[in-house]
Amino acid sequence: GLKVAVIGGGSSYTPELIEGCIERYEEFPIQDLYLVDIKEGQGKLEIVGNLARRMIEKAGVPINLELTLNREEAITNADFVITQLRVGMLDARSRDERIPLRYQCIGQETTGAGGFAKALRTIPVILDICKDIEKFSPDAFLINFTNPAGMVTEAVNKYANVKTIGLCNLPINTRKQFAAFFDVDASEVEIEMAGINHLNWTTKIMVRNKDVTQSFLDEIPGKQGFTMKNIPDIEWDRDFLLSLGSFPCGYHRYYYKKDEILQQQIQQLKDEGTRADEVKKVEVALFERYKDPNLSIKPPELAQRGGAYYSEAAVNIMSSIYNNKKDIQTVNVQNNGILACLPSTASIEVNCVIDQQGARPIQLSTEIDARIRGLLQVVKAYEELAIEAAVHGDYSSALMALTTHPLVKSASVAEKILRDILDENKDYLPLF
Ligand code: G6P
Ligand code: MN
Ligand code: MN
Repeated sequence: GLKVAVIGGGSSYTPELIEGCIERYEEFPIQDLYLVDIKEGQGKLEIVGNLARRMIEKAGVPINLELTLNREEAITNADFVITQLRVGMLDARSRDERIPLRYQCIGQETTGAGGFAKALRTIPVILDICKDIEKFSPDAFLINFTNPAGMVTEAVNKYANVKTIGLCNLPINTRKQFAAFFDVDASEVEIEMAGINHLNWTTKIMVRNKDVTQSFLDEIPGKQGFTMKNIPDIEWDRDFLLSLGSFPCGYHRYYYKKDEILQQQIQQLKDEGTRADEVKKVEVALFERYKDPNLSIKPPELAQRGGAYYSEAAVNIMSSIYNNKKDIQTVNVQNNGILACLPSTASIEVNCVIDQQGARPIQLSTEIDARIRGLLQVVKAYEELAIEAAVHGDYSSALMALTTHPLVKSASVAEKILRDILDENKDYLPLF
């Protein structure tokens, strides 16, 4: 039977995943679903696990749910291992978002110096999980949601012997946003995406087989709704979009709208704290809801988080592998020459054909020219250095990673930020 292990099973997002597994049970009939967490997460695991159990019972699907702290047991003979963990939990995220702001640099969970700190903490943990997969379920697919998802995918491809696909909900959200904009069904929208995780450009938009890219770029400025709950909805400028010739993702605002965002973040820090502080409050309320023994659905309050449609993305990919569908989804995989301007071992986020072998990136129909290449190459170089730093605990790779990042102002600021990151993450960085 089909076995799925979810590492970080105590996450507040788990009801989203459970809902997806229930809705798609017919095409993806999970027999054993293991939610696994660490000792510190046991309380959350029990609350969210009990809700999951009520959801499954109410839906009447024969999924056997197991809650465990035993990772080996969960991974053994799994077909899919989903990772959705957060090393250091939200307190660590809050520190990541604050440190750069001390030096007038953007503080964000996955982008810039904040994402760098998250990579340092996370990559060794994921590589450790990979060792278990190599031993106890060598044929399993690792479906990774853990951020920074692009860097995690690249680290796994470089340093482990595990089949992996990196997942983000941004591509699926983008497609749904286009569908809403054009007032068509999402199935009538085809998009070509190029780039890396959280730095991804839509280079072509086809609606009912017609290329509408240019008219979209012309019409969109002034209209809102092309972002996610965690990213400020700052408008794009028409001349800029038409000059760029493709549609930037939400996270591009941290680069193209750097000054506006920085000012907003400084103000927000004074008023109410960072996004992590906001998310902490949402989580407290969510877990209170989850405890209600009469609740047996995913509560609507979960929509306050940035992870909308994450379960759809997860079930889509697993079902297409399981059913050998050969459909197209935008996921994180090894480049292998698809983006010629990046190393072939880099992870990229592009359209892929999904079948029982996994995800195979497909050739782009559009050319990636200097308008995209410039920022893409520099951020990928940063990622490459950050991965080396994380894997080897190497100070000089770390310093050069931060220095290279376009959101870190200078080498001397990089040094200060790095000092603070290492200082405030001592418990989570045994390699340093
Ligand atoms: C988006 C991103 C995810 C990220 C999430 C954060 O969905 O694609 O990678 O984890 O936002 O949302 P949050 O509610 O935690 O700020
Ligand atoms: Mn993401
Ligand atoms: Mn190395």
